Amino acid sequence: MSKVAIVTGGGSGIGQVTALRLADEGVNIVIVDVDEEGGNDTVDRVKKVGVDALFIKADVSKADQVKKYVDQTVETFGSIDYFFNNAGISGSGQYFLETDIEEIEKVVGINLMGALYGVRYVAEAMLKNGGGSIVNTSSSAGVIGQDSVVTYSATKHGMVGLTKSIAAEYAKDGLRINAIAPGPTETPMVKEFYEANPKMKENAESGIPQKRLGTPEEVAELVTFLLTSKAQYINGEVIRIDGAFTNTK
Ligand SMILES: NC(=O)c1ccc[n+]([C@@H]2O[C@H](COP(=O)([O-])OP(=O)(O)OC[C@H]3O[C@@H](n4cnc5c(N)ncnc54)[C@H](O)[C@@H]3O)[C@@H](O)[C@H]2O)c1
Repeated sequence: MSKVAIVTGGGSGIGQVTALRLADEGVNIVIVDVDEEGGNDTVDRVKKVGVDALFIKADVSKADQVKKYVDQTVETFGSIDYFFNNAGISGSGQYFLETDIEEIEKVVGINLMGALYGVRYVAEAMLKNGGGSIVNTSSSAGVIGQDSVVTYSATKHGMVGLTKSIAAEYAKDGLRINAIAPGPTETPMVKEFYEANPKMKENAESGIPQKRLGTPEEVAELVTFLLTSKAQYINGEVIRIDGAFTNTK
């Protein structure tokens, strides 16, 4: 029987490309996003690959909406095998003391609370069915400190803690959970951020030993490997995919 994956933030960037990559493996896809246009676009493209797909509009920072997308997936497809817990925002890139409280709450709400709610409800549904596998999207900023993205960095470090701890709690029950820590990757999020902060793009590229940004396709390949049965004994790990960026720090 076909596997079923939920991809949050699947309307753009890394989530969209990963949804398409998983579809290539014959996986049915549920896209969760606040962006209706992007979400439906991914669903249309995924269906062309020949698998079933569904878009659910939901804000991951709202626990009731997270529960709803989980319930709707189980009602539609019967189970959840893979969860790419990926929706996130970067914030404005201002120094922390210049950042207003609303922005701090928003970044924490989407990146960290959204990830916690996602794992809380998805893992529960997976365990009722004998298990499943989860990949959380952390970041380079989740394994090293980076100025101008203090709140973002705090949330991405939080996702690392979530990954390591829950892996230990539920491994015996068939739940596998890992995190990825991409360096700067060419997606709409990064383009927008670098347009607002051009100096940071130059700094990023020159600071990466491979002298280029990553691509969403490269990240999608890693996520597909970690989610599927090929990575059965990798659990509670944080895998960096950053052209050796964090090795230089
Ligand atoms: N691009 C990078 O350089 C990079 C590096 C490290 C980590 N990441 C992480 O990768 C993930 C994906 O980023 P991306 O670069 O593909 O960005 P992106 O902006 O292209 O895609 C993010 C998607 O998340 C959705 N989203 C935002 N808020 C949401 C919410 N409240 N509820 C549901 N969906 C929401 C957006 O609508 C968008 O479709 C993020 O968690 C980001 O922090 C990105």
